[in-house]
Amino acid sequence: MSREVNFGKLLHGGDYNPEQWLHDPDILEKDIEYLKKAKINEVSLGVFSWSMLEPEEGVFRFQWMEDIINRLYENGISVILATPSGARPKWMADQYPEVLRVDSAGNRAFFGGRHNHCYTSPLYREKVRIMNKKLAENFGNHPGVIVWHISNEYSGECYCPLCQEEFRSWLKDRYGSIEKLNFAWATTFWSHTYNSFDQIEAPSPRGEEGIHGLNVDWRRFVTDRTRDFIIHEIRAIREGGSDKPATINMMYDFKGLNYHKFADIIDIVSWDNYPHWHKKEEYLTAMDGGMQHDIMRSIQKKPFLLMESCPSAPNWQAVSKLRKPGIVHAASMQAIAHGADSVLYFQLRQSRGSSEKFHGAVIDHYGGDDTRVFREVTEIGESLEKLRDVAGAGVRAETAVIFDWENRWALEDAMGPRNEGMFYKEAVEKSYYAFRKLGLNVDMIDMEQELEDYKVVAAPMLYMFRAGFWEKVQRFVEKGGRFILTYWSGIVDETDLCFLGGTPYGLMDVMGLRSTEIDGLYEGESNVGIPVQGNSMHMTSSYTCKNLCDLVRPSAAEVILTYGEDFYAGMPALTKNSFGKGYAYYVCADFEQGFYDEIYRKIAAEAGIKRIIRHIPKGVEVSTRQTDKAEYVFVQNFNREPVEIQLPTDEYHVWTGSYDGTIGGFGTVVLKK
Ligand code: GLA
Ligand code: ZN
Repeated sequence: MSREVNFGKLLHGGDYNPEQWLHDPDILEKDIEYLKKAKINEVSLGVFSWSMLEPEEGVFRFQWMEDIINRLYENGISVILATPSGARPKWMADQYPEVLRVDSAGNRAFFGGRHNHCYTSPLYREKVRIMNKKLAENFGNHPGVIVWHISNEYSGECYCPLCQEEFRSWLKDRYGSIEKLNFAWATTFWSHTYNSFDQIEAPSPRGEEGIHGLNVDWRRFVTDRTRDFIIHEIRAIREGGSDKPATINMMYDFKGLNYHKFADIIDIVSWDNYPHWHKKEEYLTAMDGGMQHDIMRSIQKKPFLLMESCPSAPNWQAVSKLRKPGIVHAASMQAIAHGADSVLYFQLRQSRGSSEKFHGAVIDHYGGDDTRVFREVTEIGESLEKLRDVAGAGVRAETAVIFDWENRWALEDAMGPRNEGMFYKEAVEKSYYAFRKLGLNVDMIDMEQELEDYKVVAAPMLYMFRAGFWEKVQRFVEKGGRFILTYWSGIVDETDLCFLGGTPYGLMDVMGLRSTEIDGLYEGESNVGIPVQGNSMHMTSSYTCKNLCDLVRPSAAEVILTYGEDFYAGMPALTKNSFGKGYAYYVCADFEQGFYDEIYRKIAAEAGIKRIIRHIPKGVEVSTRQTDKAEYVFVQNFNREPVEIQLPTDEYHVWTGSYDGTIGGFGTVVLKK
């Protein structure tokens, strides 16, 4: 079970690879001086250090690491210590090829790159166990070591015979009998029936890709295998006698692993954020990053760590765009606003060779502290010191949006009603943005989490209903909750079999309607939603919709908007149904953002949700964090120019940042009560 983690301060630091500089102790000494100057209080060590820690099989060299940890500690800098399993030494790959991954076409990878290991290989697991245990024995109780960073950015899958065998036994556990599996996967289709579990192979472009139940189960299995590997890594650390909290660093919008499945095996979530700044209006990039922060925070519903971010330009994006002055500070404050207890970078000192030599860093090849980036990092350090009391504060949300990994896997595999551009993430974003524009905190939860804590819950494009979701919704609305569901929801069960007897499955009563057909629109086609005169939501504007139009037949729901065009003109485009003490809204089509903005504003008001700032100018973000004693309101201007804004200074005082009726471009003001 995950535990509470509070450092009593906000961490400021990042990835550091001193092993690249051991030949030059002066650099290492200088670095410590610089780090202190930039108010850095944390360093992440050991990510990818295996060949330095065990240069030959069974030969361990930990002295260099010990020296560095000690030097940092003497200087008041803590260490987040990584296990090195993210990349392995050449000797291991040569001696034991089974540690290398096999791809879905059956080819075993050569040595190279990183994150290229089989997570089933008993040999790899044993090597990792030995290494982690030794690291824990050596450093796990060092007062300077505060967190375990398990591996790095888990990702990918292995199709080797060992993994295939594991998959079969995973399926056996799940289904019990091959008949049950055949039924759940609808394998009579194209005559793909299995006679026994031994016959099953993972999905492959050389073989089976059309059984949707197989595809979704394979993805679940990959998540479970990764989970099992993480448990194995952490167990070795505990075996080595260290009880320090453990994290894994997750990635932006990563589809490959259902991150929610790691909630109970790590102590604190962390993630790596690399926005494409200045490609579109900054506030849009900020909104996108904000949603990821909220996804990460909602996994455990508690503070998380920003494990990596770039103080300048990362070098792997198509274009390495320099960050304009102030934006890194704003992005760092945004992480804190959304629930992070750290701002950490990749990386502290820029590497000299190989593929990341041009990646932005706090200290660049020039090697001095008189750089623009260094100055800005120092300012961030100063701000984090001022905001120290925020550490450990929670983020309370009265609204939630469902964003479910398994639903996404299935939805994108569905074949119909649009095979190019289902726009699931975009649909989720529209709901999220609409809440955020009201200055409301939003939890981004999955179908397994509870709904009771919220007043309004939105579920865009929930194609797959699993984990008894409809029953939860029914209870939620009955008790007075407000629930928004959209087109293309409740269509399939958890093995991707279509529900019979009408959709949205299990919620036709709650929604007061049944979906009868769905129209996929060609690029360039659109329809329009027109308000019904005298509708109870007082809607008077029309809105454009694209991509998908659901044709529903109401049984009890009130029709608020109707389609204006095509053969379904006059049919419902938005409905509202009263059910128990609550209300259920059905959005029939993929409407423009303005539609969501209007209805969410009205629904939040109906639900009695309090908004701290009523008039929020475009490009301004409002987020809050709370402890038992205090409330912090972060008001961030993601516009390049200053904005005028009325802050509630009667109720709160301006704690940090400058405010004189306006907030400067990329400026942050934090109010406190
Ligand atoms: C990832 C990795 C780091 C580094 C950065 C570069 O987040 O975890 O090791 O490669 O990307 O942006
Ligand atoms: Zn494998």
